[in-house]
Amino acid sequence: MAHVAVVGSFNLDHVWRVATLPPPGATLAGDYACGPGGKGFNQAVAARRAGAMVRFVCALGADAAAQQAHALCDDEGIDLRACTTQAPTGTAGIFVDGEGRNCIVIGPGANAALTPDFVAEALHGLTQGDVLVAQLESPLPAVAHALACARAAGATTLLNPAPANVAIDATLLDQADLLTPNETEFAALLARHVGERIAADHVATLDQGRLHALCRALAPQATVVVTLGASGCFVSHPESALRGDRHACYRVPAEPAQAVDTTGAGDAFSGALAAALALCPAQPFEEHVRFAGRYAARSTEHPGAALAMPRLVVGG
Ligand code: RIB
Ligand code: NA
Repeated sequence: MAHVAVVGSFNLDHVWRVATLPPPGATLAGDYACGPGGKGFNQAVAARRAGAMVRFVCALGADAAAQQAHALCDDEGIDLRACTTQAPTGTAGIFVDGEGRNCIVIGPGANAALTPDFVAEALHGLTQGDVLVAQLESPLPAVAHALACARAAGATTLLNPAPANVAIDATLLDQADLLTPNETEFAALLARHVGERIAADHVATLDQGRLHALCRALAPQATVVVTLGASGCFVSHPESALRGDRHACYRVPAEPAQAVDTTGAGDAFSGALAAALALCPAQPFEEHVRFAGRYAARSTEHPGAALAMPRLVVGG
């Protein structure tokens, strides 16, 4: 059976629920909770709970949070390949407002110590049909090497270019078979790589032809899935590789959700998409996207990040 390998961050999320997100200078009181997160770990848990065999490659400190990461991976049945460093395990401070929107500050800590060599070793045995998933909360040389190793092994590479404020080289985009930016990340990539300045909140309003042209200009060889929150998502394939779909571009409407916390919704989408690709390679890509959208919608109905991932299995 094909595997999903996720290379990325593990963070301990400190979450405050507040009525409205704090403006500069404000002191607010909010309900506090602490739980596992990090884009890498969230995506690993999503892929696992969607039914895939998952390997998770990350860097941890030598502390209680790292022990928690090991215990969680044991519980979930995730094959953890962690290097241990002296820096504290990664952290995130998250505010969630009454509508489930968030803002996040991360303290990379140990995540910053992930090296290309460790990644190469940890990805040993990856093979054709497997899916490699990476994000931008780990050092870019490690991310680039993960994508290159996966490519060399014949695996499919999925890059979730998040968070939006990390500037990447075009060479990293070239290593991805699939890209899953949200509208903010898409706008940032367009500004940097295509020279197009489009406001993030304008992306969902663009017509299909324009969105397709922008995706093709950004990553000519990759399938690009732009997630658009309540507007669903937009899929753009290269003409030469439609991945079983009948059209090179199309929109998929959002799945309705009673959102209480959207933290990790993008991670849910990428993790579930990777699981679907690994488990049902013969299905049209559009089916995978619909599943990932459903999966992400359900994840927003529970508070937290990794532990909010639903047990919703591909094809089940
Ligand atoms: O994508 C959500 C995640 O971003 C949180 O879990 C937090 O740790 C940050 O990495
Ligand atoms: Na959630």
